Amino acid sequence: MAVRNIFLETDEVLRKKSRPVEKFDQKLWDMLDDMRETMVDANGVGLAAPQIGILRQAVVIDVGEGLYEMINPKIVHESKETQNDAEGCLSSPGEYGMVERPMRVRVEYQDRNGKLCSARAEGLFARAICHETDHLVGRLFKDLATEMLEPDEE
Ligand code: NI
Repeated sequence: MAVRNIFLETDEVLRKKSRPVEKFDQKLWDMLDDMRETMVDANGVGLAAPQIGILRQAVVIDVGEGLYEMINPKIVHESKETQNDAEGCLSSPGEYGMVERPMRVRVEYQDRNGKLCSARAEGLFARAICHETDHLVGRLFKDLATEMLEPDEE
């Protein structure tokens, strides 16, 4: 396992569409392990495969409710109720913007063995699912941000 280089928003790979995962094999598991390690190393709550330069439909998310590995994820329901909060991205270090997202979503995906799963999420977890699945179609949070926030002075 290894911490991978995170591609930045300026890299073209982040604007491309990812292909579905078809093989649930050691190569996928190694990639997922690397994604988790890279996310943890960067203190992130989510990471999508294109962020490490791999155009496959896979994301890892951990907002404090345990690690979720979502392969070929599809949001199948979004609540009408929304949340508007600050959002950032490991591919845009130190930058945050206000993004409106559904308060709750339901997502269908496959786990690392190819088993069909679904999850209901709300609040930050729902936001993370929206953000990471956006990466799989080349969409970045800045495309949706209504306002960018002043950078932290550190
Ligand atoms: Ni991101």
